[in-house]
Amino acid sequence: MIKATEVATVPVDGTRYHDRRHARVESDHIWRKTWLLAALASDLETPNGTVTFDVGHDSIIIARAKDGALYAYHNACTHRGTRLLEEGVGSTPLITCPYHAWCFKLDGSLRGAPDPDSFAEGLPADRLRLKPVRLETWQGFVFVNMDPEAEPLSGFLGKLVERAAPYQIAKMDLIEDQTVSVGCNWKAMIDNFSELYHVDHIHPQHKRFVDCPSATDELFENGHTGLYVPGFVTDSRYPVPDKPTDYQEMQLTALGIDASEFVGRVAEIPAAITRAKREQSGSNGYDYSALSDEQLTTVFQYNLFPNIILSGSPEGLWMMRSRPHPDDPSKSYLDKWTLQLSPDPALGGNPEHKQTMHAASGNSEAVDGRVPRDCFGHEDILSGNKSMTETIDQDISLLARVQAGARSSGFDRAWLSDQEIRVAHFHDALNETYRAAGLLEEMNLSA
Ligand code: FES
Ligand SMILES: [Fe+2]
Repeated sequence: MIKATEVATVPVDGTRYHDRRHARVESDHIWRKTWLLAALASDLETPNGTVTFDVGHDSIIIARAKDGALYAYHNACTHRGTRLLEEGVGSTPLITCPYHAWCFKLDGSLRGAPDPDSFAEGLPADRLRLKPVRLETWQGFVFVNMDPEAEPLSGFLGKLVERAAPYQIAKMDLIEDQTVSVGCNWKAMIDNFSELYHVDHIHPQHKRFVDCPSATDELFENGHTGLYVPGFVTDSRYPVPDKPTDYQEMQLTALGIDASEFVGRVAEIPAAITRAKREQSGSNGYDYSALSDEQLTTVFQYNLFPNIILSGSPEGLWMMRSRPHPDDPSKSYLDKWTLQLSPDPALGGNPEHKQTMHAASGNSEAVDGRVPRDCFGHEDILSGNKSMTETIDQDISLLARVQAGARSSGFDRAWLSDQEIRVAHFHDALNETYRAAGLLEEMNLSA
């Protein structure tokens, strides 16, 4: 096992969670230079579809134009800068600025402006098109990059491309779309989803369906990480129960297996699940042919630097995205998309009978074919008014306290265990950026 101390050679100080200098460096050198997951390709399938993605002080519009192509550009009018579209998913044939009514086509070009003769320098098309942003798609997600010199997305993702290839993420449907505002720095959220060290203590329910102590980590170039957790099995730190847990019973029943057969044989459940999935592949609506036996029962998680968590299994996925607050480094947003693979009727499946470990919190009804985006504050979770599933609620309930403690004068640096190797790897990638900007030296943190 790699030691955390071999990865993070620079201490993870508390300052980076609230200091404006760090936020400014992150804005200039991370958010404006890195590939960012901005939209779901399924929201941009038809001409006139738009998605507006906000990150810090920047806002990007992604649009499907009449010519069928996807375009991305800054959401800032080239007349006097006004933000053109509100954040979210929409549809419009033209974008009209709410201020003086300059009108843009969805390819970003200026279509017209009132009183064009009053501009002594004219309205040069090249100068006045909306400022373009790089765009690429992967696994049904649209990524943008504000840096025209950035390397291609596949180079940035590196090994993650082949790791994710066997899963059918692009075919999954969005069934819940939530955004919560939280009282912590965006990195505290990523730290939280970069280790299982806290799971036994704050997610006691996990011992009924995953074996976190047997999970394996993987570290990739560019700050990305991977995690593989054995599923359908109970926690190996605790005695194997005599009867299948409620969760195992549900999964066995979904595959048509009588759970009572496993009384006294709970340890055999993952093998039985694997066998059943393999036997039923192609006839129960799912096609598992590209996946290994191990992948059939494993929960994977890929963290894409800087701010994306893809936690999934063959039948479903949570995309979680942490975004900085534009002005306050002690605040951020967490977007969560719940995606599920519907059993394909062409493969004998019933779309209603989804088998997924990645459930929704259960309160989203589609309107005009798409679930609406639900935005709320973390106090709504604390009060029980909103939920992002039991596990995520437990994490979010704690994060404002993490931020408060990290900000106090009594905390100087994190003390990381080897179980927090992915936290260390994430901060190592951040440190590269801080170092280049002279911040580590300024803080006396150089290795
Ligand atoms: S700022 Fe957009 S038209 Fe004037
Ligand atoms: Fe957690």
